[in-house]
Amino acid sequence: MAVNVGAVRGMADVLPPDSERWRWLESTAYECFLQYGYQEIRTPMVEFLQLFERQLGTATDVVGKEMYTFVDGHNADTLALRPEATVPTVRAVLASGAVRAGVVRVQYGGAMFRRERPQRGRYRQFHQIGVEALGSDSPMVEVEQITMLARLWQRLGMGGGLCLRLNNLGSLAERQSYKAKLVDFFSHYRADLDEPSLRQLSTNPLRLLDSKDKNVVKLLGDVPLLEAELGAESRAHDERVKDCLAAAGVSFTIDPLLVRGLDYYNLTVYEWAPSGDERRQATVCGGGRYDGLAAMLGGNEVAGCGFAMGVERVLAMASPPPAQNGWVYLVVAEESCDAYANGVAEQCRTAGVRVVRHVGGGRLAKQLKKANLIKCGFAIIVGDDEKTNGVITLKNLQSGQQHRGEVSALIKLIQQETT
Ligand code: HAM
Repeated sequence: MAVNVGAVRGMADVLPPDSERWRWLESTAYECFLQYGYQEIRTPMVEFLQLFERQLGTATDVVGKEMYTFVDGHNADTLALRPEATVPTVRAVLASGAVRAGVVRVQYGGAMFRRERPQRGRYRQFHQIGVEALGSDSPMVEVEQITMLARLWQRLGMGGGLCLRLNNLGSLAERQSYKAKLVDFFSHYRADLDEPSLRQLSTNPLRLLDSKDKNVVKLLGDVPLLEAELGAESRAHDERVKDCLAAAGVSFTIDPLLVRGLDYYNLTVYEWAPSGDERRQATVCGGGRYDGLAAMLGGNEVAGCGFAMGVERVLAMASPPPAQNGWVYLVVAEESCDAYANGVAEQCRTAGVRVVRHVGGGRLAKQLKKANLIKCGFAIIVGDDEKTNGVITLKNLQSGQQHRGEVSALIKLIQQETT
């Protein structure tokens, strides 16, 4: 009996030709980050639930309502699909002991899972590309990472469309004293706050600064700012970040209300969103410093800083180079030419040419139609005559021009016209 099962809600397939765009983004980011010394790390998609709970913050949306968790029926372990990769990356790097030898710079890419309400740009399985640097509390780390992102946006053809917002969350002690002020401020307006806002006020008051609730938004104009609580050290860190970014020509705005959705941050935090996205619904990339995370994971104090971008959201803005007509379609006129045609295809591939071989026979016109359908730039036609004379016929599918000659000579022609 046929089983009609579709994809899970909020989880999408990526098919050709879209998958080419994904690959282009992944390899462009990979090469860009490698230029700054960030090497790839791969961590599992499944971790112990416990790893995320306290580290991301028990009062965050991600932990409170968006985690995919399950109990392993064999040993009763409670596991979770990773909702993000910073915590697993820190876990893995600490376990490796690599930080003892100096600053560790890593990059990653892959699927993350959050049970959010699916909508445009918001999925339950989404994909992130990110980096983490562990082992330095120097503000030059965030300067390096932000400069690297500015370079990547240029390479992706989206430099002008994004705005960088920066804030400084200070130290834990500074945030504690700020939270007390914030609670005091909002407590005067309890009557205006709805149930979720009142809950946030008691569990995670900083999140109110990012609230979309119109009653809260109205109050934000008068809210006390964290900046007033910052001591000399936090201020000096902040100044160095801003000075060096300005010197590097990276423009940014200071957003004193910027708080992140996860709890592990201190000092610098930032987000990149499309210009004009006032409600910050489509944030493309977010990150910052998290110097307390390693100790929370039971390790020594190891400073950390990183960012992650949403692949789906970046692709919605990026301008990939026009698809090249890089493929050659191999048209095989007779079954008797199969082995000769296969040899021609292999010779082309050895020279670096991409060859899609026609399978299934059929008339030449039908085979050429298929070549056009998958947007090949050329067709190589092999029939009995070509086989007998040890040559091929090459057809440029755009201009219609045909050449007949030895394989090696025509490979050169393809290479000239496709580079
Ligand atoms: P995040 O802000 O939760 O940070 O996610 C980073 C980016 O992932 C967002 O800016 C957005 O582009 C994308 N994203 C998040 N949720 C979804 C979703 N449901 N659908 C589509 N895209 C989404 C983190 O995850 C931190 N680990 C970033 C970081 C790295 N901080 C330090 N190091």
